Amino acid sequence: MEAAKLLDFRDICDHRGHLTALEIGIDIPFDIQRIYYIFNTPAGTERGFHAHKQLEQVLICLNGSVKIRVESLGEKSKVFHLANPSQGLYIGNLVWREMFDFSDEAVLLVLASEHYDESDYIRDYDEFCRLSVSKRDVLK
Ligand code: TYD
Repeated sequence: MEAAKLLDFRDICDHRGHLTALEIGIDIPFDIQRIYYIFNTPAGTERGFHAHKQLEQVLICLNGSVKIRVESLGEKSKVFHLANPSQGLYIGNLVWREMFDFSDEAVLLVLASEHYDESDYIRDYDEFCRLSVSKRDVLK
């Protein structure tokens, strides 16, 4: 799995509206242990600014839109514009993420592979770079 990747979910649409169903192991590439959502973000809000040692996540913008900048070792940083509830952004471990440009009424749903654990966070950018390099060296 790539470090960060847009997932296209099936959009079941008829005259009554849209329905998207997510099945673990089919649409979501990990067992979901936690769900949280971000909403009522004041104008100009920026969030994230961290990576995770182990955690994997899928971010889905259920309403409105938001931009997510992701960066991982050896890859140029990339910005994803989430504006469609039938798409999710998969983010693996050791990926620095920044969330910005939340639209009015944006609701960002996050599916996570682990329970909340502050010790899994890497909140310092230099530490993120150091850990990414040492992981790459171990895997060489
Ligand atoms: P944080 O992960 O820093 O938010 P963001 O990445 O969106 O900027 O979390 C903000 C606060 O919420 C922090 O005090 C930890 C707490 N929190 C939980 O208690 N449980 C959770 O599942 C998450 C994601 C955060």
